[in-house]
Amino acid sequence: MKWIRLPVIAAGMCAAAMACATQQVDVEIDAARPGPVINRNVYGQFVEHLGTGVYGGLWVGPESPIPNTRGWRDDAVGALKALHVPVVRWPGGCFADDYAWRDGIGPRDRRPVKINANWGGVKETNAVGTHEFFDLVDQLGTAAYVNGNVGTGSAREIAEWIEYMTADGQSSLARLRARNGHPAPFKVAFFGLGNESWGCGGNMTARHYTDLYNHDATFVRTTPDAMPALIAAGGLDGDVAWTDYLSRHIRANASAISLHYYTVPGRGGKTKGAATGFGEDQWISALKDALHMDDLIAANVARLDETDPGKKYTIAVDEWGTWYDPTPGTNPRFLQQQNSLRDALVAALHFHIFHAHAARVSMANIAQMVNVLQAMILTDGDRMVLTPTYHVFRMYVPFQDATALPVKVAGDPQYRFGATAIPAVSVSAARGKDGKLHLGLVNADPHDAVDVAVQVAGAQAVAAQGSVLTASTMDAHNTFAAPDAVLPAPLRASADHGKLVVRLPAKSVAVLAIDE
Ligand code: AHR
Repeated sequence: MKWIRLPVIAAGMCAAAMACATQQVDVEIDAARPGPVINRNVYGQFVEHLGTGVYGGLWVGPESPIPNTRGWRDDAVGALKALHVPVVRWPGGCFADDYAWRDGIGPRDRRPVKINANWGGVKETNAVGTHEFFDLVDQLGTAAYVNGNVGTGSAREIAEWIEYMTADGQSSLARLRARNGHPAPFKVAFFGLGNESWGCGGNMTARHYTDLYNHDATFVRTTPDAMPALIAAGGLDGDVAWTDYLSRHIRANASAISLHYYTVPGRGGKTKGAATGFGEDQWISALKDALHMDDLIAANVARLDETDPGKKYTIAVDEWGTWYDPTPGTNPRFLQQQNSLRDALVAALHFHIFHAHAARVSMANIAQMVNVLQAMILTDGDRMVLTPTYHVFRMYVPFQDATALPVKVAGDPQYRFGATAIPAVSVSAARGKDGKLHLGLVNADPHDAVDVAVQVAGAQAVAAQGSVLTASTMDAHNTFAAPDAVLPAPLRASADHGKLVVRLPAKSVAVLAIDE
């Protein structure tokens, strides 16, 4: 990997020289006033039976010539392990409200073949079911978030699936699980009841869903140590009225309310927008749309602070990410799209938003892990490529379970295109579990670098090192032919009298560990 030495200049140099084209942004981190812990689960993933998100992209089956461990492809699992994926949500999405868990257990060659009515009407072989999912969870060393079926399922099916997965001892479902190869109970960390119940999950009103939630959640019973945290499905695009109704009327056990919101550059227009080959209008509209996540979370937090001041319920943003027009020539219901530098910036902006709301946001799951929407990994047959989104998830690993720190930003220029304007720079800081101070930086401006001058109140910054992700074009992306077009490069900075000045390139994301 090539070292990029970005210029490190003394603070105030631009002013002394009287002329300096590069803007300076002043950042002050207050290391003496630690905030809430950033739950590592905000770096969670989502995998759905959709297109090649499971079949082909992750699961190839034990007989495949593609190297695999009990059916899960080794290249993808190996790459994902480096992200320290904290939690994986499965089997949907919309698919969850059509899913019959009993179809996915027992000998694979005897499982019923169904039609995936949500996603292209293709064959669903049920080759991946409960046991296979938990094997993936084990291989990744992650936590399981299983999404139950409220749409077409019943309280009995939910109760029995929970019993099948978690019961110890002599229940007939525990014995069936043992006969199917897993005598020990599975650990279900989270269990969701329904998905987008206002839409694909049943076109329900908040009131109807809440009644069903209370009913079904009552029958999620297991031993106290095996009890999953229950997640209630949220409203359309973070609908506050839905959150309000739910939070006032939940009577059964619940730990979180979900929130879904996708970044769509063409929002309000005829198409969602292209994944690559877009103009600057689509660059800025995507970033602005991503920043809207902050408004949605803030509005939901404000409402929950009224309805749930004791903070019984957290917010699980269990679907987020970019949603573009599908890659031309692919099945449009497979939601396959390319992933560019723009996606990396969208992801980093989301991380900063989740960090800022760490007091209420307990989980977030990007949609989706492989081959679908804003994926970490794209595959084609036996080939695999890591996307810019993958790299940015890897860069932010030190923020998992770190303690958020207050940050003051002064002099942040606006980046404008046409009638749209957004802050050019986004900053997030946290004290990592390693004791180090970590800094995340985004420069949304695709033309101009910015000098970020960093001071740490209550400490002396000495130096910083980390990595920066940028490229020469807004839609730079990795392909099977050129897998390293967008790669993080190492970045170092040293301080002058406790002040670090980092030149942040145009259209970039940087993560630095600060030595004090
Ligand atoms: O992630 C794709 C789909 O988007 C999910 O199945 C659904 O919940 C959402 O509308």
